[in-house]
Amino acid sequence: MKKEIGIGLAGFGTVGSGVYKNLVRNGALIEERAGVCFRVRRIAVKDLAEPRAVEAPEELFVTRPDELIEDPGIQIVIELMGGIDFPLAFIRRAIQAGKSVITANKALLAEHGREIFELAKEKKVAVFFEAAVAGGIPIIKAVRESFVGNHIECIHGIFNGTSNYILTRMTDAGLDFSPALEEAQKLGYAEADPALDVNGWDAAHKAIILASLAYGFWVDPAKVHVEGIENVTASDIRFADELGYRIKLIATIKADDEGKIEVRVAPTLIPKSHVLASVNGVFNAVAVRGDVVGETLFYGRGAGQDPTSSAVLCDLVEAGIALSSPKESHGFAAHDLYGDCKPVADSVSKFYLRLGVEDRPGVLAQIAGALGAADIGILSVIQPESHTGEFISLVLILHDAPYGKMLTATKTLAALPCVKSEPLLLHMETFL
Ligand code: NDP
Ligand code: HSE
Repeated sequence: MKKEIGIGLAGFGTVGSGVYKNLVRNGALIEERAGVCFRVRRIAVKDLAEPRAVEAPEELFVTRPDELIEDPGIQIVIELMGGIDFPLAFIRRAIQAGKSVITANKALLAEHGREIFELAKEKKVAVFFEAAVAGGIPIIKAVRESFVGNHIECIHGIFNGTSNYILTRMTDAGLDFSPALEEAQKLGYAEADPALDVNGWDAAHKAIILASLAYGFWVDPAKVHVEGIENVTASDIRFADELGYRIKLIATIKADDEGKIEVRVAPTLIPKSHVLASVNGVFNAVAVRGDVVGETLFYGRGAGQDPTSSAVLCDLVEAGIALSSPKESHGFAAHDLYGDCKPVADSVSKFYLRLGVEDRPGVLAQIAGALGAADIGILSVIQPESHTGEFISLVLILHDAPYGKMLTATKTLAALPCVKSEPLLLHMETFL
């Protein structure tokens, strides 16, 4: 007889119901692999009357998540409710009660990971979070375990399925932003508050978790540079295309020679020839470069019911195995080799700058003069003939410069009388 492990599922929405469905579907396989038998004892939801696409026995449903913690037959609680304050308090209580915890809540871990893992260590309970970064891609396991013998040199990732879906639909189908977002919401990819998807913060939460794992200290969200895709237009996508680039919401995590860590999430121009440029739709990809392993690439669905529940099931098996043969591992290994983030202003890259300018002689010379005075070199210029209202777009590709310097120069340009619309400044990544 296999040992039975009781599960409390907090949340039965897109991911929670997927976990239940797939646990039923692949239960025999999972139990063979884990060597234990899993039984869902309670499911917490907000509203018992809510119609459910996935069926589960009615008697399992409760509306008070603490019933999961109070049930002595539950050893593992799976938090899939979303939000921050409520699940934080819930997870704290679960850890205090000695329950193993699984969560897919990247916002919570990015903001409160340090405190959760310190408490888990003190109470000697395990916390698992494979689904929190890049949905079905097993990147947490890879960075934490498979690359344990490496210094991580850099990680570049497409971490938000919703914004990648929107950019892909804008590129391939010429769709506007709003209908593309609506499609992503219908498909269950977007967060309850989709602002987090499009403003870059969902990807930033994932980048913070991964950077923290890769470099052994909890990265402070205040030190992360975050821009969303809201200001990227169909014209920017076309200009980038003409120049040989795609625009993607890229998370860049990099250690510099002094061990300072840069964490940045921004719509970024990447060469069409780079493999990340071909990652489309809801797919995520993560390129990790380690000093021993070299370049690696992970690709898969970054959101949605089944890919995300696949990652939760992986955590479940790990949690089950850990409960049947305990070891001193709590999911996060802090160390002192790194410990500081690079100031955003010092991050160096090439840049894409789109200006709306008056269509008259001398304007280009003024712009070039202002950039020259700021010691910023121009690599190339596109000035399409078509007008946008009263002005014309001017697109410049600029040589490597620190972001702080570029921002100051952009503000100087924005103040010129010949510049008629808010400039758009985008990072470019050459992956060197
Ligand atoms: P949903 O909004 O689809 O589901 C949330 C579930 O939690 C619902 O069943 C809801 O109950 C329940 N719930 C919410 N608050 C409470 C509460 N106070 N008490 C009891 N139950 C509550 O969210 P998702 O499944 O999309 O996301 C869950 C988590 O997984 C989030 O942290 C999200 O960021 C993360 N995630 C989501 C992915 C995705 O593709 N959707 C991918 C990776 C991570 P009711 O059904 O009654 O409303
Ligand atoms: N809203 C997220 C996304 C879900 O679109 O990637 C996966 O974390």
